[in-house]
Amino acid sequence: MTEEIKKGLAGVVVDTTAVSKVVQETNSLTYRGYPVQELAAKRNFEDVAYLIWNGELPTEEQLAEFKAREHAQREISPELVDIILGLPKDAHPMHVVQTAVAYLGAVDPDADTEGEEANLEKAERLYAQLPTIVAIDHRRRHGLDPVAPTTDLDYAANFFKMVFDEVPAEEVVRSFDISMILYAEHSFNASTFTARVITSTTSDLYSAVAGAIGALKGPLHGGANEAVMAMLEEVGTADRASAWIDDALARKAKIMGFGHRVYKNGDSRVPTMRKAFEDMAAVKGANDLLDLYNTFEEDFVSRKGIYPNLDYPSGPAYHLMGFDTDQFTPIFVMSRITGWTAHILEQQANNALIRPLSAYDGEPQREVPDARG
Ligand code: CMC
Repeated sequence: MTEEIKKGLAGVVVDTTAVSKVVQETNSLTYRGYPVQELAAKRNFEDVAYLIWNGELPTEEQLAEFKAREHAQREISPELVDIILGLPKDAHPMHVVQTAVAYLGAVDPDADTEGEEANLEKAERLYAQLPTIVAIDHRRRHGLDPVAPTTDLDYAANFFKMVFDEVPAEEVVRSFDISMILYAEHSFNASTFTARVITSTTSDLYSAVAGAIGALKGPLHGGANEAVMAMLEEVGTADRASAWIDDALARKAKIMGFGHRVYKNGDSRVPTMRKAFEDMAAVKGANDLLDLYNTFEEDFVSRKGIYPNLDYPSGPAYHLMGFDTDQFTPIFVMSRITGWTAHILEQQANNALIRPLSAYDGEPQREVPDARG
């Protein structure tokens, strides 16, 4: 029997979803029907998180209640703080976040409680606590004590306060908030699909999120935002971009932050994030980095016709905001927790075990020889 292999599940439609829509022909992305670039222009991350979970944008009253719940749940237990502080300082921040999520599952007596309400509560709590976890990890790596979460600042400003003990200029906070909106959801990408596979076995939400974090870490997926910055730092200056690309292509290396499984003619999130990066470059006076960014992009696109994805502008934008390069992907986690958990709820509501087939190409069936001696 010859089965048709769909390597990487490319082009395979696995299930329906009402959370977001990726349109390959127009390279567009909508969350619950709203174009992502319009959400980024008109709304904050909190509105978008609410939308992703609840299907509609919040009224003023609903938003106030939602924010109050998030503010009230930001603090993490002293036991979890100790666990983070006890991890090696050079542990990858994605492993730290994954460990923290697994711990939160271990101590939640309702970890296995089923039902939309119980699981939405867990999702909201993770959304509230992930910034605290990422911020504590940042500070311990720099030999600094944790800064307690505030109960009054909005999501993005509170995160900056916990990481740097100060809230930066409004443009910086806004650029960060925009990145959170753009990263929040993206249909059946590798990490979301991982979360859905785990959920399909009727495992719990924490296990699904921990698995999704593992999938996101890889440089072909979320890890690309840190890989982009590492690459730009290696290239160094705009005048070196062309020779660097020659060498990388000769080695058949993948250029980080370019290309996409679905979008082949550009990613609709890029112009918005690119503008946010340009705003950062203006605030920080980082003309050299902007020059390198533009030169590198023009050169690579003109050679290969492969366009930047969201990670290309977000990496250098996070760098200019002052975050460590290896913390860019945990920041992505803080946003994508919304999309992952919306998909977990959707999978739970209409579950079928995800269990594909494989085509065997190993040894033909054979007889086990008698044991020696
Ligand atoms: N650099 C160099 N060549 C590339 C790149 C790239 N970034 N992307 C695609 N190609 C080439 C690829 O080598 C292949 O060439 P050929 O036909 O000669 O073998 C051709 O383009 C088609 O690529 P593909 O591998 O079939 O595309 P894919 O859909 O399997 O891969 C991708 C998509 C994202 C894995 C790939 O573009 C890539 O590795 N990009 C770099 C990593 C990256 O930026 N990842 C973030 C993705 S978007 C955000 C997210 O999901 O988190």
